[in-house]
Amino acid sequence: MSTTDRQLRVGMVGYAFMGAAHSQAWRTVNRVYDLPARARMALICGRDAGKVADAADRLGWEAYTTDWRDLIARDDIDVVDVCTPGDSHAEIALAALAAGKHVLCEKPLANTVAEARAMAAAAATAQAAGVRSMCGFNYRRVPAVAMMRQLVADGRIGVIRHVRATYLQDWIVDPQFPLVWRLQKDRAGSGALGDIGAHIIDLTQYVTGRRITGVSAVTETFVKERPLPAGSSGLAASVDGGAVDGNGDGRHPATGAVTVDDAAVFVARLDGGVLATYEASRFATGRKNALRVEINGSLGTVAFDLERLNELEFYDATRPAAEQGFTRILVTEGEHPYMSAWWPPGHIIGYEHSFTHQMRDFVEAVATGVDPAPSFADGLQVQLVLDAVTRSAELGSSWTEVEPALTAVAV
Ligand SMILES: NC(=O)c1ccc[n+]([C@@H]2O[C@H](COP(=O)([O-])OP(=O)(O)OC[C@H]3O[C@@H](n4cnc5c(N)ncnc54)[C@H](O)[C@@H]3O)[C@@H](O)[C@H]2O)c1
Repeated sequence: MSTTDRQLRVGMVGYAFMGAAHSQAWRTVNRVYDLPARARMALICGRDAGKVADAADRLGWEAYTTDWRDLIARDDIDVVDVCTPGDSHAEIALAALAAGKHVLCEKPLANTVAEARAMAAAAATAQAAGVRSMCGFNYRRVPAVAMMRQLVADGRIGVIRHVRATYLQDWIVDPQFPLVWRLQKDRAGSGALGDIGAHIIDLTQYVTGRRITGVSAVTETFVKERPLPAGSSGLAASVDGGAVDGNGDGRHPATGAVTVDDAAVFVARLDGGVLATYEASRFATGRKNALRVEINGSLGTVAFDLERLNELEFYDATRPAAEQGFTRILVTEGEHPYMSAWWPPGHIIGYEHSFTHQMRDFVEAVATGVDPAPSFADGLQVQLVLDAVTRSAELGSSWTEVEPALTAVAV
């Protein structure tokens, strides 16, 4: 429990999937970690008054509003937490920074490079006035991933040769799954690429400390038309089966065009001579949320699988030949990243803890006046990789350099 009287009054926009995950983390963070400020769940925002009132009650927020502009205009809000789809990230974050609020914005930072550049520039300006900003790549905060980075930084796998990263889901394999916002370019920016590919781009750059410099990509949209949704949230939705009869036969609802990729596959070079492969798909039947990363170096290998998130695989090629083999490290010891505040060794943690760790790092950074990571500049750099992948795919997989961010980026 926090021992401080200092408060950070949080206002959160969006209350569905990420809104619930962030709320859980805001509720928990000061009860687990002793921090220099206490996060207060002051205000939640959603557009539907009834639903946001219910969300405020269910998720533990003190008050609600139906317009994010009200939230930003209030002088009793210190932090704006953006949990909306990508089409509103830039507008909300830019207004919040201009109003002097610290901002935590979900990934991907924006829907376009232009928006991300504007956000990184505004964050740099606000930083000079002590205003902090962070992009929500929460998987950095899984203890096994943080430990993976430590091992790599300590030289335990030597010179990095390969990165192999996949993030696989299957929630739209059914062609009758409706056209939710994640399948619309104007709402989401891109498909599997920006939604889940962005995570493995950030994670691998974070773990290796190297940046992707160029890519050759293919993308595909397997199902090009889908029924219009009746209602949707997060990764769930229902089809508008009755209200609209698009084909006039009394059975089929109206359909709309899918304007994003269903899957993206690319090879990449990272600086320092690293060769990498990336795959992001929503059509990997049977794979629900399968994020896997393996990094091979001259002295060893580290591998992580989100479905076994308390574990890290480590192959140490410096050990005597007779003893070599993959070691399964259970990342639950007090000396492992983030773990000292949780349970006795061996008592495992889960998906939601990555968000609590994210809030811990954010609150600590804001309260102590340092910049949290990943910054908006880091978010921009990921956006530039997404853009290079898209352009390469449009040019028949031609080799495409990642544009420089023009803003200092620390990975
Ligand atoms: N870090 C992660 O692992 C992770 C996981 C899922 C989603 N995300 C990201 O989080 C963001 C939200 O995704 P989600 O899955 O929570 O979506 P969602 O559809 O579950 O929720 C979006 C919420 O935003 C609200 N909203 C939309 N426009 C709004 C507006 N103009 N004003 C106020 N509220 C508005 C909706 O009502 C809803 O409450 C996206 O950027 C997504 O990429 C991150």
